[in-house]
Amino acid sequence: MSATATGESAENPLVAGLERLPVHPTSLVIFGGTGDLAHRKLLPALYNLAHEGALPERFEMIGVARREKEDEAFQDMARESIERYSRTKPDPDVLEGLLSDMRYVPGAFDDDEVYAELERTLKQFDEQAGEQLDRVFYLSTAPQFFPVIAGKLGEAGLNRAEQAEVRIVIEKPFGYDLASARSLNTEVLGVFEESQVFRIDHYLGKETVQNLMALRFANALFEPVWNRNFIDNVQITAAEDIGIEGRAGYYEGAGALRDLVQNHMLQLLALLTMEPPAAFEANRLRDEKLKVLEAIVPPAPEEVGAMAVRAQYAPGVSGGSEVPGYREEEGVAADSRTETYAALRLHVSNWRWAGVPFYLRTGKRLARKVTEIAVTLKPVPHLAFQSSGSVGVQCNQIVLTVQPDEGVSVSLGAKIPGPRMRIRPVNMEFRYGTSFMSQSPEAYERLILDAMRGDATLFTRNDEIEALWGVIDPILTAWHEDTSSPIPEYPAGSAGPAQADQLLDGDRHWRRL
Ligand code: BG6
Repeated sequence: MSATATGESAENPLVAGLERLPVHPTSLVIFGGTGDLAHRKLLPALYNLAHEGALPERFEMIGVARREKEDEAFQDMARESIERYSRTKPDPDVLEGLLSDMRYVPGAFDDDEVYAELERTLKQFDEQAGEQLDRVFYLSTAPQFFPVIAGKLGEAGLNRAEQAEVRIVIEKPFGYDLASARSLNTEVLGVFEESQVFRIDHYLGKETVQNLMALRFANALFEPVWNRNFIDNVQITAAEDIGIEGRAGYYEGAGALRDLVQNHMLQLLALLTMEPPAAFEANRLRDEKLKVLEAIVPPAPEEVGAMAVRAQYAPGVSGGSEVPGYREEEGVAADSRTETYAALRLHVSNWRWAGVPFYLRTGKRLARKVTEIAVTLKPVPHLAFQSSGSVGVQCNQIVLTVQPDEGVSVSLGAKIPGPRMRIRPVNMEFRYGTSFMSQSPEAYERLILDAMRGDATLFTRNDEIEALWGVIDPILTAWHEDTSSPIPEYPAGSAGPAQADQLLDGDRHWRRL
C-alpha cells in the first residue's frame, strides 16, 4: 500500500511532528500481534505513522499469534484498537488503506509451519513489490518466547536476506536478571548480528527524554555546572497512580525494580550523567551510556538495606475511589513479597560525579502520575544579605518533567519587591505544549520508525543491557533471599512509604508528589 499523509501544517517548523524521513519499503511482522501492547500501542502507532505520511511508500504488516483467525478478523481487531487508542482521530481513507494490507498468521511460536507460512507471505509481498522489502520482526510476546522465536527465525533462514535488511525488535523485559539477560543475548546473537537487534525501552522514544540531551548538549548554560562541584543531589521520580491493571501474571514475577528501574529509570540516569558523545550516533551514544552505567557501583549484599527500600501498596483511595491493596488484587498471592514501590540511593563513581547522591523512586498507586528529574545545585558559597532577609534563599533546582506537562523549569532566587532585600524562589519555565504548539508523537511511533530505518541510537545495546542488570542484580538477590522481614506498606494514593525517607541524607527530603 502507499500511505498518504492527511497533512497537518507541514510548513510550520514548530509543528514538525514526525518528519517524513526516507524509509525503505518494509514488511513488519508483529509476533504477539493480538496482545495488549499491540492493541494499545503498536497498532495505534502504526496508524499515526500512516496518518503523518511517515510510513514507507510500500508497507506490509503481518500479525502472528496463537489464536485462529482470518485476515479480516485481525483487521477488524486492529481497526478497533486504532479507533480506541490512536492519538489522532482516524481518517477513514488512511485507516482502511493501512488495514487492507494487514495479514494474519496463526500458530504457536515454536511451530515450524508458522515460519514456513511467514516466508511464503513475505515472498509474496516481495513479488508484488518487484523488489525485496526490508523485514522487521517485532517480538511483542511473553519473554519466554524471545529465544524461541529468534531461534526459529534462524532455522527458517529468515534472519538474513540477500538484497534487503532484516531486523529484530525485542520488547522488554530483556531478561529476568543479569544471568538470564546474558543468556538471552547469547541466544539472539547466535542468530542475528548485534547491528540487526533493536532492544526497546519506550522511554527513550519519549520526546522529553531526548530533550534531556538537547538541554545538556545544545546549551552552554548547563554543562559547566553539570558535575560534583555544583550539583548537590539528583532525584529521579517515576510515580504512577494506576495499580497493576490486571497484569498480575506479569507483575508478580517482576516487581517495581525490574519493571521500571532496570530499564526506564536507569536510562534516565545514564542520559543525565553520561559524558557528551562526539556525535549523536548509535554507537557513540551507547558507548558513553555504557561507561557511566559501569561507573555505578552495585551495592554489596550488606549495603542493600541502607541504599534500597521496597514496599507494597495497601488499600487506599485513588482518583476519589477506594481501591484494594496489592495483595488483594486479582491474581496476586495473599503472601506476595513483590514490591510495587522501590527507592534507591546510587552513586556514580567517576570524576564528574563522585560524592553526588542520585535518589530514584518509582511506584504504582502513588498520589499522582509524574516522571521527573530534579537536579538540585549546591548553595551559594556566601550570602551577603542580612540573615533576616535571606531566609527565602534556596538552592537552584532544574526540574525536567518527562510527563505530564512536559517541560523544564529552573528555580531562581528573586528579590521580593519592597525596601528590604528579601528573597524567594521563582520559576523560569519552558513547556513543550506552549512552545511547540503540537502534540508530541508517541514514543512507539518514533521507535518503530527508527527500527525500520535501522537507526539504533534510541535502542539498548547488548553490553548496555547487561550493565543495566548489573546495577540492580545484587538488590534483586538480596530481596529475594530475604524471605522473612516484613515488606513496608503505603496506602494507595499516598506519596509512598515513610521508610524511603531514610535513604536521604541530612535535611534532604523527597519532592512532593
Ligand atoms: C512499562 C511498565 O514499561 O512502563 C508499566 O511495564 C508502566 O508497568 C509503564 O506502567 C509506564 O510507561 P509510561 O509511558 O506510562 O510512563
